[in-house]
Amino acid sequence: MPLLLSVIAFAAILIISQAIYNGIGPMPSSKKVSKALLNSLGDLDQNLHIVELGAGWGSLLIPIAQKYPSSTITAFENSLIPYLFCRLRLQFSPCKNVRLYRKSFYSVSLQDYDIFICYLYPGAMLRLSEKLKKEMKPSAILLSSTFHLPGYKSSHEYDLDDLYRTRIFQYKSCNFLPSHGKES
Ligand SMILES: C[S@@+](CC[C@H](N)C(=O)[O-])C[C@H]1O[C@@H](n2cnc3c(N)ncnc32)[C@H](O)[C@@H]1O
Repeated sequence: MPLLLSVIAFAAILIISQAIYNGIGPMPSSKKVSKALLNSLGDLDQNLHIVELGAGWGSLLIPIAQKYPSSTITAFENSLIPYLFCRLRLQFSPCKNVRLYRKSFYSVSLQDYDIFICYLYPGAMLRLSEKLKKEMKPSAILLSSTFHLPGYKSSHEYDLDDLYRTRIFQYKSCNFLPSHGKES
């Protein structure tokens, strides 16, 4: 029993310290939000390259991979415990089209993706927008749960009728606002 408690306490410390470092914890998207994001993607008729920025426990990753078996889903998660849990889930729900990496998505090139999906926080969205300005290909789209992508005009946004009135934002790479961040 003391060993089990020590393992749980150690795992909790790892999760909390990584959440402090990232600025956000591994809070999963609710079923309603996951469904809304999948509905927003609609029927993808080609083999696309989808990326999830911060996969957490895999709550969104696995439904996406199952809905789009002919697309490749790359997911980045840098927090060890959620990453390991997500890996474990993939053992029980094998998805051949998933590539899961324990890496920060800031440290990799984001040039090759067609669709970006994220549920982060305002500071991360700001940092991400700087990276996407340089790397996001012109035809790409980004779906964000809850948080706006600074420097871009959304092509579509709507609120869910859940407890938090979660807002879903959709962006096209071409809707970048060139004047963003420049002094007038
Ligand atoms: C709010 S959770 C969302 C998880 C999942 N996308 C979902 O909707 O269920 C955000 C996740 O992003 C991860 N994260 C934050 N910054 C990251 C980074 N730079 N690289 C990789 N993962 C990151 C966090 O560890 C956390 O698990």
